[in-house]
Amino acid sequence: MLTNPASKYRYEAPINLPNRAWVNQTIEESPIWLSTDLRDGNQALIEPMDITRKLRLFNLLIRIGFKEIEVGFPSASQTEFDFVRHLIEQQLIPDNVAIQVLTPARSQLIRRTFESLRGAKNAIVHLYNATSPVFRRTVFGLDRAGTINLATGAATLFNELAAQQPNTNWQFQYSPETFTATELDFAVDICDAVLDVWQPTPQHKAIINLPATVEVSTPNIFADQVEWMHRNLRRRDSLILCVHTHNDRGCGIAAAEMAQMAGAERVEGCLFGNGERTGNVDLVTLALNLYTQGIHPGLDFSNINEVARIATECTQLPIHPRHPYVGDLVFTAFSGSHQDAIRKGFAVQEPDKIWEVPYLPLDPADVGRTYESVVRVNSQSGKGGITFLLERDFGLALPRRLQIEFSRVVQRVMDTTGKELSSQDLWQLFEQEYLHRETALRYVSHQVYTTDDSTQMLSAKLEVNGEMIEICGKGNGPIDAFVNALGIGVQIFHYEEHSRNLGSNADAVAYVEMSTDFMTGSLYGVGINSNIVTASILAIISGVNRIIKSVDTLVQIEQLMKLKDYASKALPKI
Ligand code: KIV
Ligand code: ZN
Repeated sequence: MLTNPASKYRYEAPINLPNRAWVNQTIEESPIWLSTDLRDGNQALIEPMDITRKLRLFNLLIRIGFKEIEVGFPSASQTEFDFVRHLIEQQLIPDNVAIQVLTPARSQLIRRTFESLRGAKNAIVHLYNATSPVFRRTVFGLDRAGTINLATGAATLFNELAAQQPNTNWQFQYSPETFTATELDFAVDICDAVLDVWQPTPQHKAIINLPATVEVSTPNIFADQVEWMHRNLRRRDSLILCVHTHNDRGCGIAAAEMAQMAGAERVEGCLFGNGERTGNVDLVTLALNLYTQGIHPGLDFSNINEVARIATECTQLPIHPRHPYVGDLVFTAFSGSHQDAIRKGFAVQEPDKIWEVPYLPLDPADVGRTYESVVRVNSQSGKGGITFLLERDFGLALPRRLQIEFSRVVQRVMDTTGKELSSQDLWQLFEQEYLHRETALRYVSHQVYTTDDSTQMLSAKLEVNGEMIEICGKGNGPIDAFVNALGIGVQIFHYEEHSRNLGSNADAVAYVEMSTDFMTGSLYGVGINSNIVTASILAIISGVNRIIKSVDTLVQIEQLMKLKDYASKALPKI
């Protein structure tokens, strides 16, 4: 129970924006992406990156395809300054990439920032000052006019310093920091004032970045704020409208998406949502959200595991196992009904058709994930997941009633251990249950003959509790002949076989659903062998062994004795 009154917080009323247009928009194209991993992401780390780690992350961002990368805050520390110098002096920045750097509206720091950029080919210089009433009042002691003067003074210095380095392609960016808490009329005034100094044109645009420095409202209100700015900024055709959402209410993604509907053309954020407090908006999720809507984000996440590995090594921050698109568990289904639907979906999904596998919003293969992790089996799973794994990894196409039967075996184990089972564990259980080697009745060899009247004769050598016996029977086929040879009242209800190819080995797999006089119901036996008749005999033996195990000891002994007796006395010798 929260004990403090909620009235200590301010309720954010919707903005008066009649005919707001964003609600009817959908996102039709990818925004311009700006990665601020090396700046906003870096400044939020317990231990900020050194040059080696920054460089590793920078190279990753280049490989992913970012064309605009905020590489640091050069006036903040020597490491930050040196990193920018290193990139420029070592010529590590591709010609089609612009580096961005951040500076506060303080002349000393602005000079140092321009100094760090000497020799850069393409540079975006990012100016910010806080604009919300609480900052104006409490932090800077400035009124509206004073705050505008601070920004325009800094903007003027930008013009002067850029003119001294004419070989660089400059682009300027302004952020009214704490935009989400700033009165809209003031936010537009200060942005317009800065743009008046910079005089951008449609050919040479400036960037106006609207940060949700702290996320303080539902994303629809942020979208209203962005649309309001989009409609009211004076030089709209000469600027790129950008958003920079943080995730304090957990809506950073929604806010950035709705902001695009409201007119934003550029988005700043970090990989996997690193950044101050709850993080910057996660660019991977944003990009892959677009991708699942059929819009290519222009960023390459086809090896998301590698991106995750490098990002976590550089930031030393883990990724939650349920993080969208990348978490260890996001392509994994535990529930039986989900597993069943996924298995069916994969079976009919055609490679070049619209992706329609239930429960998976994205083909795991598109981000370099394998199907291996799609289905896992724990106590929440049903036969679907078990069947899927045995089929995929061991080539078994279990008949439906066998699926049900074996899932009970699995369930018993899981109820005891409470642990998840891998496909190798399942295979071991299946072997133990159906393909057991240490059993009362063991197959040794067999021979099949056809008599003149086309009857099949089958003789078989078996081991009964370690003692060798020979039996013989006839029937309308080898299975029938073997069942008759056994002479313990085996009835076959269902028989299925298929071949399975595992690498260079081809096997036949036979499944028999059977019963005997001395049991109620039926159960399955399974046999695997390169020879189909042998596989069928093994399946029947597997069933008999399971029946013997399932009845009480007295009956077991009786039946085995009957079998031995039958073999020694009643059988015709071959
Ligand atoms: O969150 C923020 O407001 C910032 C600004 C410096 C753009 O990171
Ligand atoms: Zn930020």
